[in-house]
Amino acid sequence: MSKKKLVFSGVQPTGNLHLGNYLGALKNFVSLQKKMECIYCVVDLHAITVFQDPNNLHDNVLETTASFLATGLDPNKSIIFNQSSVSGHAELAWILNCVSRIGWLNRMTQFKDKAGTDKEKASVGLYIYPNLMAADILLYQATHVPVGADQKQHLELSRDIAQKFNKDFNCKNFFPLPEPLISKNISRIMSLRDGTKKMSKSEESDFSRINLKDNADEINKKIKKAKSDSDVIPGELKVLEKKPESLNLITIYSELTNSSLEKTISEMAGKEYSHLKKKLAEVLISEITPVGKEIQKLLEDKSHIKNILKKGSEKANIIAEENLKNIREKVGLI
Ligand code: TRP
Repeated sequence: MSKKKLVFSGVQPTGNLHLGNYLGALKNFVSLQKKMECIYCVVDLHAITVFQDPNNLHDNVLETTASFLATGLDPNKSIIFNQSSVSGHAELAWILNCVSRIGWLNRMTQFKDKAGTDKEKASVGLYIYPNLMAADILLYQATHVPVGADQKQHLELSRDIAQKFNKDFNCKNFFPLPEPLISKNISRIMSLRDGTKKMSKSEESDFSRINLKDNADEINKKIKKAKSDSDVIPGELKVLEKKPESLNLITIYSELTNSSLEKTISEMAGKEYSHLKKKLAEVLISEITPVGKEIQKLLEDKSHIKNILKKGSEKANIIAEENLKNIREKVGLI
């Protein structure tokens, strides 16, 4: 087993990445790439656990990859690829389906949320999705996994599966137990319309989120319309915590200016929200619109993006096959 640090993370190809993905995941991916070996995967096999229109899925994989590149992920530093092009993910997922327990999966809160009231109608894939996620990570013997707080339970399951595999097949320390790198921001970037809900691509109103592809005009309009408060900005976090939409605007501003929340609050205390909104729109426009333009530019040459994915898959596949050889051996497969 290799003892070196290795980062793995996956992003579902939704096509429409937003500020929450940017501040919560992508920016962190870029900074990790400077310090460690990293593998970043567009998880198309996860996406199909709920039905995807095939044409959309194809385009969304390319667009998510373009968003990776536009935010600064470098294919010469990190391995960037799409999950379905390395068949080891599906193979290891099957083996881990046989290690993981039904009782464990029954505790997964995301399945309960996503399947809704009629669980009988959810795909089997949606139910065993966390086993595939464990396979993604363990296939590379990854040690560190940057995820949002909503994925913490899935990561704990990955650790349980790794531990049970190591015990069942009598190979102590074979799979390292992956450590979560929980970004504190991902759960804190909230909808611009309802500060108690996460910013999400599935919320109906586009005014609830800043998309990476929004232009300056759209950003201005959305920030102007964002819910805030008629009072002036309070100087205490405790007071702000009772006004989630206002706190969200301040959080976003502090993240984008790389300043602490406390410092931003004291800078803004006593001012009108219109002042904060004006400054926020400015920093958003200067940071987000170049990313959006770069995504559009990259999407003009799809074969270039496909080529990056292909090269990434080749690199990923070498590591995956090497590990799978050992995994098959442990299980006793010929
Ligand atoms: N389940 C994750 C999400 O929805 C995506 C994901 C799939 C992932 N495989 C992974 C994240 C492996 C980290 C590691 O956000």
